[in-house]
Amino acid sequence: MAIELVPLPLPASADASKFAQFGREVKGVNPGSLSESEFEQVKEALYKHDALLFRNAELTPEQQYALTKAFDPASESYGHGNNKTEGTKKSILHPDLKTIPRVPQVQLIGNGTVYNHEGLAEAMLKHPSHTTFHKTRVSPEEEANGFTRFYRWHIDAALYDLSPPKVTTLYGITIPKGEPQTVRYDDGTGDELPVPLGTTAFVSGKTMFDILPSELKSLAVRSKVKYAPHPYVWMAPARALSTGLGIESDGHELPFEELPPWEESRRKTLPVVWKNPVTGDLHFQVHPCGIAELLVDPLPEGAKRDGALYPDGAHLTDLKEVRDILYKMQRPAIAPKLIYPHDWHEKDLVLFHNRGVLHTVVGAFTKDQVRAFHQCNLAASDDPVGPTPEDVKKWA
Ligand SMILES: [Fe+2]
Repeated sequence: MAIELVPLPLPASADASKFAQFGREVKGVNPGSLSESEFEQVKEALYKHDALLFRNAELTPEQQYALTKAFDPASESYGHGNNKTEGTKKSILHPDLKTIPRVPQVQLIGNGTVYNHEGLAEAMLKHPSHTTFHKTRVSPEEEANGFTRFYRWHIDAALYDLSPPKVTTLYGITIPKGEPQTVRYDDGTGDELPVPLGTTAFVSGKTMFDILPSELKSLAVRSKVKYAPHPYVWMAPARALSTGLGIESDGHELPFEELPPWEESRRKTLPVVWKNPVTGDLHFQVHPCGIAELLVDPLPEGAKRDGALYPDGAHLTDLKEVRDILYKMQRPAIAPKLIYPHDWHEKDLVLFHNRGVLHTVVGAFTKDQVRAFHQCNLAASDDPVGPTPEDVKKWA
């Protein structure tokens, strides 16, 4: 049976011309029991459109795990690993994740207290809030008036030892009703974005690359990012920028020698730009919070040196300098008009191309606003592929 693909409804804030290819609702199939040919169509659609929505989906944790695994059959463990370092109390991810006992690759996330849920007698969930992560915060009075922030722009990835998952599945089970909120960037631009309560916001990594000026495209295709060891433990004492797009360089990161045991060979060095395996497009995929160093290749032979950044290559290790360069490249793509804020309804299943988008939790719930989601992603069987030599030639 052929699947039907329908563009996602865009908010008035979005520039529709930038979303022509982004996002589709999939109709006519049950995501929990796709035939082989249906799955192949869904898989191709995911890489072409980066985010897929199934409405009124019925999906057990077992089915969600199977669907997620089908995108990378050799993958097995949850994207951050199970019961490893990322599960320790020191990691900033610790309070946000509860494992479904029967299917440990599926996490229960949300807000408030959930009872008798898939083998969990009682789970206390907390929607992550910028108030515990950003250096500055929206005041309680302003919060009461509906103002909020992006929490943390990211790729779902351990960024140490394990490879970034190819796809993440998010299944909305209990969705609290509530007033819309307004995201404030608080970075001096005056940027604001009206959002549904508890939206998940997405931006396209392809757009992030496409809108860069030529000298930054050249830098992007020639660069790799080296992540800190155990980045979520490393960054735990540090605080984030008001846009949620990276960390303030105040020197609060844990010294490497105070981290849990780590090995240099397990640290991740990944291209700044990842090649889409279906479209061949280049997606700017950097998790800004975990970055430690930037490695830049020299310009390829024959490239114009005029105005080129680091024409002879570079290895940047100054944390603030590295963060400032990446921020300059990533900030344009989180402009309000480039964001797709998903308006969650019960039984929405969203699949997103984790190697093609960045996303963030948004907003704040009160304690009595109970929300329950199932989330699954699996550490991939390989690392993402960077630009080809032809891509580098074209953009450098
Ligand atoms: Fe995520």
